[in-house]
Amino acid sequence: MIELRPLTAENMETVRVWRHQVPETLRTPYMLTKGMQQDYYRDVICNRESHTRYFALWTIAYKVPTKRGADHYPAEFIGYGGLENISWENGNAEISLLIGPEYRGNGYGREAVKLFLGEAFNKMRLHSVYGECYMCGPWLFWNRLLDAAYGNGTFEGVDSICDNEAFLPCRKYWNGNHYDSYYFTFTRQSYENLMRDTSERNEQADTGKEHEAVHGQTDDSVRDRCGTSDYIHGCGIE
Ligand SMILES: CC(C)(COP(=O)(O)OP(=O)(O)OC[C@H]1O[C@@H](n2cnc3c(N)ncnc32)[C@H](O)[C@@H]1OP(=O)(O)O)[C@@H](O)C(=O)NCCC(=O)NCCS
Repeated sequence: MIELRPLTAENMETVRVWRHQVPETLRTPYMLTKGMQQDYYRDVICNRESHTRYFALWTIAYKVPTKRGADHYPAEFIGYGGLENISWENGNAEISLLIGPEYRGNGYGREAVKLFLGEAFNKMRLHSVYGECYMCGPWLFWNRLLDAAYGNGTFEGVDSICDNEAFLPCRKYWNGNHYDSYYFTFTRQSYENLMRDTSERNEQADTGKEHEAVHGQTDDSVRDRCGTSDYIHGCGIE
């Protein structure tokens, strides 16, 4: 399980390091200095008037009872992202996501998308959320989510894409080649389908039962303690 928290300046430095490892996925593939990243944090992330709402993604702390007492598993900063290019007039925004390399493949990306869509549809009163992923990047991750959100398989080849996805030509120049992009839109209804996705619900229910049986309740005191920025250094992300 993961949760959204406000981003800190220290988180942004971790993000800067992660970001430099995946330039082929970025709109702006140039390296950022610490200063540039902190300017972005101050001018965009912390600016209430900017057209961006970004969040830190954290795991939730838990403890496992042992003979000696309990082993504590503190919360960890695992990624960042949210909504940008917010158009209040049109009720839409673009989704953006980056999971730290050591945390990928655990279902956090999928969970994060649901949390961001929840913000968009349940808190910001948006009508749709779109995204664009270059085909030299992990576009199949998004395609799987679209598949779950719209049902019945939305992609079985370029000829069978649904109304909510498209391929745009030559959107990214990387390593001497132009790549097309996968462009997609989540509607409120598709978000609700995603939240109802039965296989995921069953998985979550099972995991929850196992978690309670094995680990007991989430320990808020651990969560609070490990939510401090000091811990980010401690867990070696930087
Ligand atoms: C893309 C990214 C967000 C995926 O995060 P993640 O936490 O590893 O993804 P999950 O574990 O939630 O995976 C969800 C599903 O997508 C699939 N998936 C994830 N990455 C994939 C990839 N690169 N190619 C194909 N499928 C992928 C998983 O196998 C899983 O499928 P399943 O539901 O059938 O088991 C992460 O790799 C990342 O941050 N990459 C670098 C930044 C980036 O590219 N961001 C997106 C820019 S458009």
